[in-house]
This record gives sequence, C-alpha cells and structure tokens, in this order.
Amino acid sequence: MSRAYDKVKNDPNRIIIFDTTLRDGEQSPGCSMNLEEKLKMAAILDELGVDVIEAGFPIASAGDWEAVNQIAKTVKNATVCGLSRAKKSDIEASGEAIKPAESRRIHTFISTSPLHMKYKLQMPPEDVLNAVTESVTAARNYTDDVEWSAEDASRTEADFLCQCVEAAIRAGATTINIPDTVGYAVPDEYGAQIAMLFARVPNIDKAIISTHCHNDLGLAVANSLAGIQNGARQIECTINGIGERAGNAALEEIVMAIKTRNDALKFHTGVDTTKITKASKTLSTVTGFSVQPNKAIVGANAFAHASGIHQDGMLKHAETYEIMTPASVGLTESKLVMAKHSGRAAFKSKLAEMGYELGDNAFQDAFTRFKDLADRKKEIFEDDLKALIEDEVVRENETMKFISLQVNAGSKGPQTADLTVTIDGERHSAKVEGNGPVDAIFKAIRDIYPHPDAHLQLYQVHAVTGGTDAQATVSVRLEENGKTVNGQSADADTLVASARAYMHALNKLLNKRQSMNPQTAAQN
Ligand code: KIV
Ligand code: ZN
Repeated sequence: MSRAYDKVKNDPNRIIIFDTTLRDGEQSPGCSMNLEEKLKMAAILDELGVDVIEAGFPIASAGDWEAVNQIAKTVKNATVCGLSRAKKSDIEASGEAIKPAESRRIHTFISTSPLHMKYKLQMPPEDVLNAVTESVTAARNYTDDVEWSAEDASRTEADFLCQCVEAAIRAGATTINIPDTVGYAVPDEYGAQIAMLFARVPNIDKAIISTHCHNDLGLAVANSLAGIQNGARQIECTINGIGERAGNAALEEIVMAIKTRNDALKFHTGVDTTKITKASKTLSTVTGFSVQPNKAIVGANAFAHASGIHQDGMLKHAETYEIMTPASVGLTESKLVMAKHSGRAAFKSKLAEMGYELGDNAFQDAFTRFKDLADRKKEIFEDDLKALIEDEVVRENETMKFISLQVNAGSKGPQTADLTVTIDGERHSAKVEGNGPVDAIFKAIRDIYPHPDAHLQLYQVHAVTGGTDAQATVSVRLEENGKTVNGQSADADTLVASARAYMHALNKLLNKRQSMNPQTAAQN
C-alpha cells in the first residue's frame, strides 16, 4: 500500500499535502524553472514536510524527464510523483523517471466531463471508461501507489463519475483526485460532489479522495476545505498558489487555515509551518514571479500593521489584530550581521552559520563584493548577505561573466552603457546608447552577444531591505522560441543588478541551447 494511504489509515484526520508547484505550477506562464532550480525547490518542499511532490510531467520533454528522475534520486522523505495522460508511453516515462525514489507514485488522468470527452478527447464515454481501467492497470506495473484523476470532474455527470471512480479503484488506484479543473465550483457544490462519491461508490473506502482546485473565481482554498470537510484526505496545492491561469489552491493558506482554525477544521498536516516563508521567497526569487503584497500568509503586508489604531492595539496585546504569529510561518526579523570592518574570518564563520559553504574562488569574489557593499551601505543584514551569496553561487559556472559597467544617465541624454564581460574567459566590451540606462545596458549585452530570437518578457526591481541604500534584487525573464528563462541578481547599484540579472537569464538560455543535443532530444 502507498505511504500516504498508511498515514491516513492510522490517523483519520491527517491531511495528505500533495504539492504540485513543480508540475501544475511550473507549467504556467512565467514560472518555468531549470533543473538546478527544480532540485532546489524539491529539497525545500521535502524540508517543509509535504507528503507528495509532483515533480513534473516526464513525457513532456527530455528536461522534464530528467528533472523528475533527479528529484526521485535526491528527495528523502516525500513520495515523488510523475504525471501521465492515459497513454502507455506517458505511463512508461513516469514509471522509469520515478524509479530511483524510495516512495514513488504515478498520477494518471483523463477527462470525464461531456464537454471534454466530446471536443477535446473526441472519445465516447465507453472508451474513456476503458481507458481508466487500462491506464491504472498499466501504472500498477511500476508502483502500488497510483493516483487517478478525472479531469474536469466538477463538470462531470454524477453517474459517469461514479462509474469511472469505481473502475479506477478496482484497477488498483489508491488515490482518486476530483479536480475542479476550470475553477468553476463553489464550496457547497464541490463538498456535495465529494460527499456524493462517498455515498455512491461501493469500493470508495479502498482509496484516498483528493481535491485539486483551481482559483479562477478565487475559491480554490475554500473549495479544498469543503472537500476535506466531506471526506477528502488529500489536498493538491502549490506554493504561492501558482498554477494554470489564476493558479491552484495555495499551500500556505490551506495549511495555516487548518492550523489556525483547528477548532473549526479538526484536521492536521505534516507541514512544518515555520518553513513556509523560505519556500515562498525561494520560489519567487527563482521564477521572478512575485507575490502580491496583500497575499494571505506570504505577502509583504500579511503581518504589517499600518494604521495607528491597529499599531496601538498591537502594542497593547498582539492578539488584538494578529490571528497567527509571524514566527509561526518562519517570518523573522532580518538580523544586523556585519559591519565595514568585519574581516575574512568573521565573514566565513557568518556564512557557515547561515549554511553556506563556498569554494575558494567563489568565497574570494563574495568577500570582495561584501567589502564593496559595506563601503556603500551602513548596515548589512542577514538578508543582504543571503542575496549576495545566492547571487555568487548562481554565477559560479556561467559562460558569460560580468566584469564592469559604467553608465551615463539623467535628464540630459544620451544615456549610454559601457559594459565589459568575459565569455568563456575572453574579454568583450561594448559602449551603446539607449532609450534610458536600462535599455542601454541590455542593448550592450545584445551587442556583445547577439540573440535576436530572445525577447524580454519581464523586468522587475525589488528592494532587499529598507532604506535608500538597500540592495536591489532585479528579475529578468527572456523568451526564445516558446521557452522562458528567469534571471536574478542583487546589488546595491540597481543598474549593475540589472546587467547581471539579464546576463543570468542569457546564460540559462545558452545552457538550454547546449542541452538541446540530438541525444537528449531523442528521449522526447
Ligand atoms: O487541473 C487539472 O485537472 C489537472 C489534472 C492533470 C489533475 O491539473
Ligand atoms: Zn490543475
């Protein structure tokens, strides 16, 4: 039996958290990640304590297959899952990709609503029903942990949904997922659909019922909670609620609703909520997909009290306006850590305390950048060091490296950028005029390394800490032939960070091109 099934069987109010950030989340526009970024996120999700990590859709591309396979090799606690359509080739790709995982799951799906069967699949219901049995049976050859999903379940006729669910369980599915694929359901209706399955499907006790709710009407979390109140014991969700269109149910909202309102929602999860902020911030940094400031749990304002009346209440008693503590989601004040005169040894020991171990060259570069930052910025916080080090780690193996930048900006044009970089160790420079300093910098990069098919999709600047001397984190997204890559950089000089962020994205595009060799492409 599956690990998740055992957890619920022994503890009936335990909710399985199935995270699909790396699959449903990653497939949404602007959220794509490379292998290194997916591995980083998978490790964070494992540390967070999710039960299942849906690591990708292995048949989709050689890169997806590789990512699922690498995640299967590295994840320690969670079950690793691969998505498959109801096709032998998909199931085989998932089965092979997840093989190294200690606990593995195949998730197979087919549409069951009249609309999807008629127009998308162009299959009669009898054929869909046969495909359910065949796909689950095929998946069971690879693992005894098989999840079956009825795509567009919330718009599926009750009789047919019951037949499909019964067939899937009979064929060996241990989890049955009831997606509200288009985010159309309302909570009472969605809860009633789950209750209906418990009332009508004779073998339902042999599987865990799961929710998978999209947020098109802003109801994904409410629908998921209605699902567990009616017997579902797995919730599919994503960090920051990323996902197709308006996204999926947000993991942090689900988990904190269950924890904070345990009087009303008598369930529990295995999530360590103090790791939520780290997971949310890492995802935003890696994808350049920032969280709206007023987003529940992880938005910048989620624990900020602006009005005088609220601040006064908070000072008297925090519970006047705070239903959960910032610490409970891992939000701690960034500590003041280093000063201008801190030496090499102090810097090294601070990095070790923060969990960073750098090679000699990377350490030397990081120390030089720290000294440079300390010259320009009065106080250096932990968040400053984190931004600087992560920037250095990311840059270690880049083909194109930043050397220097001089910019002429201001109201009297022309604005120019004079940029020097190395490509595979060889120095290249360009001095270019632009429509503003950022435009000039990006043109200089294009001048040095032409990449006419790549288009800028996003350019975004955030401050790492407060104050006018704060470091800026810049995110850049480039798109080339349908593939998108994100680059980030942090620096006290926004224009330097802009150049480095663009080059980070471009380096990723170069890597993507190199990995498109015929050998790996053949796995498609
Ligand atoms: O939204 C959906 O229906 C899905 C399925 C593949 C589970 O993502
Ligand atoms: Zn979905």
